[in-house]
Amino acid sequence: MTDPHSAPRRSLPEKGTGWSTLREQLVALGGDDVDWRAARTAVYVFNAGEDVLSVAKEAYALYQSENALGPAAFPSLKRMESDVIDMGLSLLHGPEGACGNITSGGTESILMAVKTCRDQARARGVDTQGAQIVLPRSAHPAFDKAAHYLGLETLRVPVTDDYLADVEAMERAVSERTLMLVGSAPCFPYGLVDPIEALGELAERHELWLHVDACVGGYFAPFARMNGVAVPPFDFEVPGVASISADLHKYGYAAKGASTVFHRSEAQRAHQLFVFDDWPAGGMTTPTAAGTRPGGAIAGAWAVMNYLGLEGYRDKARQVCEARAALEAAIDEMPELCTYGDPQLGLMIYGSETIDPFAVWARMKGRGWFTGLTTEPRAIHLMLSPAHAEVMDEYIADLRASVAEVTASGEDAAGTRATYA
Ligand SMILES: Cc1ncc(COP(=O)(O)O)c(C=O)c1O
Repeated sequence: MTDPHSAPRRSLPEKGTGWSTLREQLVALGGDDVDWRAARTAVYVFNAGEDVLSVAKEAYALYQSENALGPAAFPSLKRMESDVIDMGLSLLHGPEGACGNITSGGTESILMAVKTCRDQARARGVDTQGAQIVLPRSAHPAFDKAAHYLGLETLRVPVTDDYLADVEAMERAVSERTLMLVGSAPCFPYGLVDPIEALGELAERHELWLHVDACVGGYFAPFARMNGVAVPPFDFEVPGVASISADLHKYGYAAKGASTVFHRSEAQRAHQLFVFDDWPAGGMTTPTAAGTRPGGAIAGAWAVMNYLGLEGYRDKARQVCEARAALEAAIDEMPELCTYGDPQLGLMIYGSETIDPFAVWARMKGRGWFTGLTTEPRAIHLMLSPAHAEVMDEYIADLRASVAEVTASGEDAAGTRATYA
């Protein structure tokens, strides 16, 4: 493919091109992309099978022009959003009065939670300039982005030897400048659920807002639990939890552009709203950062949730957990490799004390597997989808071969840098 930066600037074509040609071009453009349809990537994409993909696609297409900015024009979307929020709250022990909104993704859900927390504090008369979010080092950078946008600061606290939020160290980091505490369920780097109950007690003791980032686990952990996995309490069941982010476009298997942000009460959510009417086109009230809100993303999420239902999600969660367990068992048999922590959901990492995991990663990439990397520890990172259940044997066989090659050559991959985005 040509480098977009070295190619001459393209202008809009004088005449249009027919769809069949454009379609071919679009498919060709994707020729160098990772082969996620064949389940050979374990990052960025959640593949729950062709049937789920086509439900999401058709629902998206049906509502692709509709705009949730105008609920009076599109009561359909208002209804769908309210259904999705209700279904989410029913999974996350939402108490009476809990509420929420659909956003464009985890980052926007977190931005909205942080903004709501900040504005509630401001309403109490707190000077929030430079106020702090205390969070484990493993929390997602979306909190730093939100803090950057909102005039706040983050204070990242090292995790324990078990890679979990260190509640005591977080307590020591709390000061009169602290506004918010964060725990993840699970965190992205390690796939581990932080001790949310202990964080909830800490939040209550210091009268702080606890946000649980369940972007990855919100639509997975409840089903894993129903399947018998002992996931510790992480949602509104924990009294100190004020807000939760949970992504529909991750393990909710919805089309991209869909997440949920939940609040314990309407009084709390009131601080999320932006209300304005000092211009010539009438009053505007928007619940999230967006103006136009894509109807397709809302309809896609609504349709996939209703398509899969509890049974469907439980089945998908089982497939993912089985794929993860199969890989963990294979790694246990390979003396060169080790896993970190005790992952219960769909994320895991593995590394080595004797060979360079980045070199193994590069060998696996050469065999067509595209996965992530972590730096603390140096490890290979996987975010597994239901579709991986069918290719795990192949992945493990390739892993054995890659480990043997790296062991024999003693190579390292010093030039390989871990890049999240
Ligand atoms: C734990 C966690 N939080 C937040 C996010 C941000 O979500 P998004 O990429 O949808 O903005 C991610 C993304 O992977 C995540 O893993």
